[in-house]
This record gives sequence, C-alpha cells and structure tokens, in this order.
Amino acid sequence: MTVDLRDFIRTIPDFPHEGIMFRDVTTLFNDPVGLRETVDQMAAALGDQKFDKIAGLEARGFMLGAALAYKLGIGFTMIRKAGKLPGSTISEDYALEYGQATVEIHDDALDAGDKVLLFDDLIATGGTAEAGIKLIERLGAEVTLAAFIIDLPDLGGRAKIEKMGVKTHVLCAFDGL
Ligand code: PRP
Ligand code: MG
Repeated sequence: MTVDLRDFIRTIPDFPHEGIMFRDVTTLFNDPVGLRETVDQMAAALGDQKFDKIAGLEARGFMLGAALAYKLGIGFTMIRKAGKLPGSTISEDYALEYGQATVEIHDDALDAGDKVLLFDDLIATGGTAEAGIKLIERLGAEVTLAAFIIDLPDLGGRAKIEKMGVKTHVLCAFDGL
C-alpha cells in the first residue's frame, strides 16, 4: 500500500497569517519513513525519464532535491534567494503576497540544452517556480519537469506552470488555502 505523505505533514492554523493553514514539511523531513518515502515516491514517479540536473529552490527545495539528485546520480543546482551566490549570477524577481523577492542562479550552473528537473517542496501561487523556470530557460536549458511534494490547487500555481508549457508532478495535494 502506498504511504500517504499527508499523514506526515503537520498543519499549523493561522501561520503566518490568520486564516492560512500552513502545511509544515518539517515533520515529514523529520521522520525517517516520511523522508525516505518522499524521495522514493518521487524517483518512482519519474520512471525512465532522464535529467541532466536537478535545480532546487531555496530553502525547502534543497533538502530532498539534493537527496533525489543523489539517488538519480546527477548534479544539483542551487537557485538561491538574492545575494547568496558568490559567482556571476542572473536573477528574476517574483511577486510575494506583500512586495517582491528575487532568486538567482550562477550563470555557469547549467549548459545550454540541459534537461532540468525543477524541484521544490510546495507549489502555491507558482510565483517561485515560475521565476526558477525563467532562470533555467535564460541559460538555454529546458525544464522538462517541475516536481513538488505538495500542491495547493486552490492557489492555481500548478495550472499556471502547465500553461507555460512545463509538465508538472506532485506527490500530494491539500484543498483549501
Ligand atoms: C515557500 C515554499 C515554496 C513557495 C511556494 O517558500 O517552500 O518555495 O513558498 O509559494 P508560491 O508557489 O506561491 O511561490 P518560502 O519562500 O516561504 O521560503 P523557504 O522555502 O525559504 O522556507
Ligand atoms: Mg520555498
């Protein structure tokens, strides 16, 4: 029987604002079964698809994105929040609930033509993933799959990414905000 990852994900009401049900992956990552199942379920879902790199989104996309890259035997590329990467970078702004944020990638992190799996823990509005996809595409590489542990379908991010022509895969979903 397939393990339901939602059983390991804690929900914290009213964080960070009243009315938000925060889906907390710390409890998933903290559990040895939850951690291993997440990586194994994602690897199984990929089937025989081949990727040159996994690009993970800071911060919660780093942990299991790197574990998945280890399992697939490929490299891991960091997409970081502004000002953290030491080499030459390109950057993309994206909208937050209030204001905006910026993500960056080293401009030599990917080769033109690379097939990239974009990985993050969760997709909500899709703003973060969209910025990551733009960075990867600006380096001439292709996001052949964007994969997430959790989808919040009511926020529309997955549909937005699919509309950009990028295939997606999610391991579980929570209805509501
Ligand atoms: C959260 C989550 C995703 C993003 C999803 O990250 O880990 O990266 O928001 O939201 P979106 O689809 O509406 O863009 P957050 O920026 O809160 O920070 P963290 O990963 O560094 O904890
Ligand atoms: Mg994040």
